[in-house]
Amino acid sequence: MGILTGKVAVITGSTRGLGLAIAQAYAAEGAAVVVSSRSAQAVEQTAADFRARGWQAAGMSVDVADLAQVQSLAALAVKEFGKIDIWVNNAGVTGPYGPTAQFDPRVFEGVVRTNILGTYYGSITALSHFKKQGGGKLINMLGMGYNKPAPWQNAYGSSKVWIRHFTKALAAENKDQTGIGIFALNPGMVLTDLLVRNEVIAGSEEKLKSFPVIVRMWAKPAEEPAKKAVWLAGPATDGKTGIEGNVFTTGVLVRGALRELWWKVTGTAPKTSEVDMTTVAPWQPD
Ligand SMILES: NC(=O)c1ccc[n+]([C@@H]2O[C@H](COP(=O)([O-])OP(=O)(O)OC[C@H]3O[C@@H](n4cnc5c(N)ncnc54)[C@H](OP(=O)(O)O)[C@@H]3O)[C@@H](O)[C@H]2O)c1
Repeated sequence: MGILTGKVAVITGSTRGLGLAIAQAYAAEGAAVVVSSRSAQAVEQTAADFRARGWQAAGMSVDVADLAQVQSLAALAVKEFGKIDIWVNNAGVTGPYGPTAQFDPRVFEGVVRTNILGTYYGSITALSHFKKQGGGKLINMLGMGYNKPAPWQNAYGSSKVWIRHFTKALAAENKDQTGIGIFALNPGMVLTDLLVRNEVIAGSEEKLKSFPVIVRMWAKPAEEPAKKAVWLAGPATDGKTGIEGNVFTTGVLVRGALRELWWKVTGTAPKTSEVDMTTVAPWQPD
């Protein structure tokens, strides 16, 4: 028996990275999980892997930027498992690192569609089910930029502050709805494709020079923030709303910096980096 036994959880963007780790952690705690991402093949494979481990799982390929698809995902959860107790709006994208004016507007739009519209559609869909059922927990994913401007990552960073304010406003609007918890989670730096497979706009490479060291100091395996997502979804938060979970604490910051300093002093810093960078051309207006 885990702390989520009997619960049904939907996690968007859960075929890799943090979403996959959250889905695995929920399933390991006894929840039936519904996995999704845009890739039908990845969804099928992930759901099959879960079932092979003895976990209850279903899946559907969904683009979170499409409301009808998000509603179908909720309908699948209800059809397969009868209800939705936990909904995590995890799917997110970044785009290349570089000046806002050189960012391809179509890529910018893609960030807005996935991060902002995706969170909005997922939230209203989950909320309508929670209201019918008389309860449920919604978790929206924060990230860099949620608490201060993120120059050279403006599309991503400004989408995350939007998610923060959106989530807080939604929690305030629904604070009298007994049994509904609306939370945000800042997972810190997580070792996933989104963090380490970087694109940089030509001319901005210099600004990312120290990025591999930053990743080495502070990035964590996805299993770490997934534990916080379990805590938010579990009984510890029953009857609460508006919580902002944060994995990137002062302790993490100080420990990472001290370890790096020790490596520098002793000359034992790792020679290789997990960070991979591809240069892309700047966007030019016609
Ligand atoms: N990694 C970090 O350091 C970090 C730090 C702070 C916050 N976060 C946040 O954590 C969340 C997960 O990030 P991650 O690092 O795990 O990213 P990731 O490794 O790139 O995984 C993203 C997942 O979302 C899916 N996805 C992307 N766009 C989608 C869309 N429009 N519709 C449905 N699914 C979509 C991807 O699958 P498909 O591409 O196949 O659709 C994939 O399963 C994001 O919200 C991110 O902002 C990450």
